[in-house]
Amino acid sequence: MNNNILHTDVASILVSEEQINELTARLGAQITEDYKDSKKFVLLCILKGSTLFFADLMRKIDIPCALEFMRVSSYKGTETTHQVTMLLDVEKTAINGADVIIVEDIIDSGNTLAHLKNYIASKGANSVKTCTLLDKPSRRVVNLTPDYVGAEIPDEFVIGYGLDYDEKYRNLPYVGILKREVYEK
Ligand code: IMP
Ligand code: MG
Repeated sequence: MNNNILHTDVASILVSEEQINELTARLGAQITEDYKDSKKFVLLCILKGSTLFFADLMRKIDIPCALEFMRVSSYKGTETTHQVTMLLDVEKTAINGADVIIVEDIIDSGNTLAHLKNYIASKGANSVKTCTLLDKPSRRVVNLTPDYVGAEIPDEFVIGYGLDYDEKYRNLPYVGILKREVYEK
């Protein structure tokens, strides 16, 4: 195990670099097959968490695709009300008539992705599917099943390969479980 400060906060590795390589290859091949007849194919990156996954996934896709970016932030209220705030929007012309795959880092409650799906559909997309690196199905509060899933994981707080805790750990090359003492102190 590497000794630097980033790695020492990791309790255990959940998805290794090798597994990331395998799952991006699997998803890329599937997406290539599913979208080979699309006239306008758009991969939509949800900043910031999915950047690393997005960059690896697109290189495993062998058909032309346009790249778009959005940034949202989800605030969990004191009750069950969930609010998704738009920080960077995508142009309507980029989405209109397109077959869009929304690329996310992780699905927890499902609120963010459910909201984004509706939003992209409202911009005139021809079709909207979702692809997530990680899925925590046990945490779902809305009815949402992603179309492409890298790995299902248990209900643990994970960091690395784009995912952060307080904007840290995104540059870890693997997905790990964050030591509880880091966020419970
Ligand atoms: P949802 O709207 O509840 O599905 O939340 C999804 C968002 O919450 C993700 O895009 C992440 O930003 C964040 N999130 C959920 N679980 C984790 C985690 O284990 N580690 C880091 N971020 C997480
Ligand atoms: Mg996120």
